[in-house]
Amino acid sequence: MATSRGHFSSRLGFILAAAGSAVGLGNIWKFPFEVGDGGGAAFVVMYLVFCFLLCFPVMTAEIAIGRRTQRNAVGAFKVLNKPRWAFIGFMGIAAGLLILSFYNVVAGWAFGYVIEMLMGNFEIGTQFGDYIKDWLKIGLYGLVFMGVTAFIVSHGIQAGIERAAKILMPSLIMLMVALSAYAMTLDGAMAGIEFYLVPDFSKINGQVVYSALGQAFFSLSLGMGALITYGSYLNKDQNIVQAAAFITLMDVGIAFLAGLMLFPFVFSQGLEPTGGAGLIFVTLPGVFSDLGPNIGVIVGTLFFTLLTFAALTSTVSLLEVPVAYVVDEHKVPRKRAVWLTATFIFLIGVPSLLSNGASSILTNFIDIIGLAREGATDNSFMTFVGWIANDTFLPFGGMMISIFAAHIWKKENLSAELSLGNENYAGSFVETFINFSISYLAPFVLSMIFVLTVLSKFFAIDLL
Ligand code: TRP
Repeated sequence: MATSRGHFSSRLGFILAAAGSAVGLGNIWKFPFEVGDGGGAAFVVMYLVFCFLLCFPVMTAEIAIGRRTQRNAVGAFKVLNKPRWAFIGFMGIAAGLLILSFYNVVAGWAFGYVIEMLMGNFEIGTQFGDYIKDWLKIGLYGLVFMGVTAFIVSHGIQAGIERAAKILMPSLIMLMVALSAYAMTLDGAMAGIEFYLVPDFSKINGQVVYSALGQAFFSLSLGMGALITYGSYLNKDQNIVQAAAFITLMDVGIAFLAGLMLFPFVFSQGLEPTGGAGLIFVTLPGVFSDLGPNIGVIVGTLFFTLLTFAALTSTVSLLEVPVAYVVDEHKVPRKRAVWLTATFIFLIGVPSLLSNGASSILTNFIDIIGLAREGATDNSFMTFVGWIANDTFLPFGGMMISIFAAHIWKKENLSAELSLGNENYAGSFVETFINFSISYLAPFVLSMIFVLTVLSKFFAIDLL
């Protein structure tokens, strides 16, 4: 198995790297504000349903394709003798470049907050608007963040990605458990818990279902071949189904913990849970300030360090997808591939960087091109890139991967791959469930989502 492509050295290494990819800003930054916007616990319920019924099966299919072929997201389809399907991989690479271009900007915000907290600047929450407008500062943080991501990826699978994940993931979990335990002790915590955990099913509407599915997909890093790529570094004796179940549980668990920590904080501060994208950046510094200067600095610094770590294991996986393609298919040395790709992505991220107040054209981009929705507060270029990559490419890619695995590569081959390292797979209930989900459920639901996105976002035909 010793090829020059590199391999995860252990099962834990793969699981932590894949869970590290999944757990990121999506869980700690995006999930809570989506819950806030989506009406609380009802959104959480829908999210959980999608994670297990739809995302988990798609995840097993992605990993299986990767491990079977030992190739990147594009090459995998060529190895299976279906070169026409390689367009899925190219779309995945495009999605990865676009997502990383703005994800890195938000990661830069988080990294900058570590520094602000260290300096005891709790006022930063009230200055958030000015902070993200300061393109030079944010650009510098983003540059550092992209540099660290590239540094890790340039060291390859075992020495870079696996080692980073083994340190970062356990630290993250420990910090989050401690912070959520602390959050529970605050006055007003119960109101937060109630908002978060007691569902009001009358709040479920088309919009909630739509965002819950999008969130589940993004959060589990599906639809762009990130897990095809990571699966390609996995040994044949590993149990994929078990690993995917573990990754899903870990991702859902950490999103869940993030809410458990955040909503008590928000309610104890007397703030609204519908704070939108600024939610953690605006509310949390106030919470830390209330802890008094000393403890506040420690907890605040820890929290944003944790957020930065979570983002880092995700940016690593976003960068690895295009890099693996260039390394495998074009035989470019890894280090060169990494630095070229990272520079390119940083550059295409510059408009996103400027779209939070620095440039008024980019800040109001969606409005200017005539696609703004009524009452929308965020019409930035960065949000627009999210519409294309997260909301369009990912569900489309996920739909194609499911159709491919079930109907083109064929279920028998998928089952054969999933049986390696899992003797009891053939004939099990799990096999029936996975096959049903990727053959019918996922293609159906994801194609609906894709059509809804295109009509409602790009043609302003509101069906939700
Ligand atoms: N899942 C990550 C998060 O929740 C983001 C991410 C990393 C991602 N790699 C991905 C999303 C691949 C989609 C596809 O923050």
